[in-house]
Amino acid sequence: MSKSEFANPWGARFKEGMSARLVRFNTSLPVEARLFEADVRASLAHVQMLGATGLLTAEESLTLARGLEGILADWRDGKLQLKVELEDIHMNLEVLLTDRVGEVGGKVHTARSRNDQQAVAQRLFFKESTLALARTIRSLQQTVVDHAREHGSLLMPSYTHLQRAEFTTYGHWLATYVVMLDRDWSRLQDCVRRADECPLGACASSGTSLAIDREATAAALGFRRATVHSIDSVSDRDYLVEFGAAAALLMVHLSRLAEEIIFFTSQECGFLRLADAHCTGSSIMPQKKNPDVPELVRGKAGTAIGDLVSLLAIVKGLPLGYNKDVQEDKTSWFSLLDASQQSVEILTDLVREMAPIAARMKEAASGGHVLATELANYLVRKGLPFRSAHHVVGQLVKLADEAGCDVSQLELSAMQGVCPLFQPDVRDMTAQTMVVAKNSVGSCGTEAYARLMAELDAMLSR
Ligand code: ARG
Repeated sequence: MSKSEFANPWGARFKEGMSARLVRFNTSLPVEARLFEADVRASLAHVQMLGATGLLTAEESLTLARGLEGILADWRDGKLQLKVELEDIHMNLEVLLTDRVGEVGGKVHTARSRNDQQAVAQRLFFKESTLALARTIRSLQQTVVDHAREHGSLLMPSYTHLQRAEFTTYGHWLATYVVMLDRDWSRLQDCVRRADECPLGACASSGTSLAIDREATAAALGFRRATVHSIDSVSDRDYLVEFGAAAALLMVHLSRLAEEIIFFTSQECGFLRLADAHCTGSSIMPQKKNPDVPELVRGKAGTAIGDLVSLLAIVKGLPLGYNKDVQEDKTSWFSLLDASQQSVEILTDLVREMAPIAARMKEAASGGHVLATELANYLVRKGLPFRSAHHVVGQLVKLADEAGCDVSQLELSAMQGVCPLFQPDVRDMTAQTMVVAKNSVGSCGTEAYARLMAELDAMLSR
């Protein structure tokens, strides 16, 4: 296509150009410029296939390939400016190519449409960016594991209903997030696997009568295979919705970690200290050191949920084939991608440098009647049905509350007054002695924790 033919990109059918307002409204360029490189790479594979199948001569194919390689190099060097008047990356690419190689540049659009062109650029970018996010999750997990290896044996309370429930170790608490994040990692792998099919060659919607080789372009671009249905190829945005669900859930997990870090660093708990480099101060209260990083992550999780809903709503009710509505998909997709990538990275820094305050955690894990469940288990070991043991310990808790002490501080005689099964060995039971003894699978005890850490190592080497 010569330059003059782009005076109106929609060709001879149009008498007038687009209004300035329409140009601004219609363009996807500011959002999608980051797909340009993928578009050039897909175009390269396309012209090489057109040469191999004889739809272009070898010389034409080579000329177009050289032109595209030059564009790619200049783009990477930051030498190219894309034009909003040309609506999107695809029109810009064709004009840039034609400027370089002349009229033969118009042959690049043989047997393709912007619909499959967009679809293939998105999927190429999708695979790479999603796998990059998955790798970032792995390094957060590894950082949490390393931190747990260093400080994991510290005693801390575990919570239910945000009330001290039992006791556990810092390492056992940290490992929870490694396990949660592993599900996020594998959800991302799953959606990449399903998206790993090449839509290029589907053309506008129902394919082409030109004898292209779709498996060749699929293979050249590193896809598992070509998509099996042309209409579905240009309609489908499932992979973005799947990614949206996986990324929103990832953000929800990060938000839960963020919330716990905020709680644990509060003066009320004082279990953790964050590095100054990850906190901000107050413009009025000189004493403040605010946990902005986890707060922002928690806030961004809200935006992420909105982005997932946007993606679903954009696709809902769309008739088959390409509809311009899907141009909006990139805003939500990139918002999710960037928020999750940044949040995982900054939480990795935060965790690497956060410091547990052992004395505060231990103090909290020794009060709040956290020994109660293990006292009941003591009686179970002596043959009492658990329900009766629960009742006995409930009475002890009541006594302790009346005496203003913790259940672990009651006199043995007072305990025996409630249940004669208590013997002097009950005095050996403390949070510290019992935490190491919880060794059923997944528990916090010494051996169970060692097995868990081995499990996490195996998980992270996958
Ligand atoms: N900019 C469009 C998008 O983001 C590319 C495809 C345009 N195709 C069309 N027929 N208008 O989805």
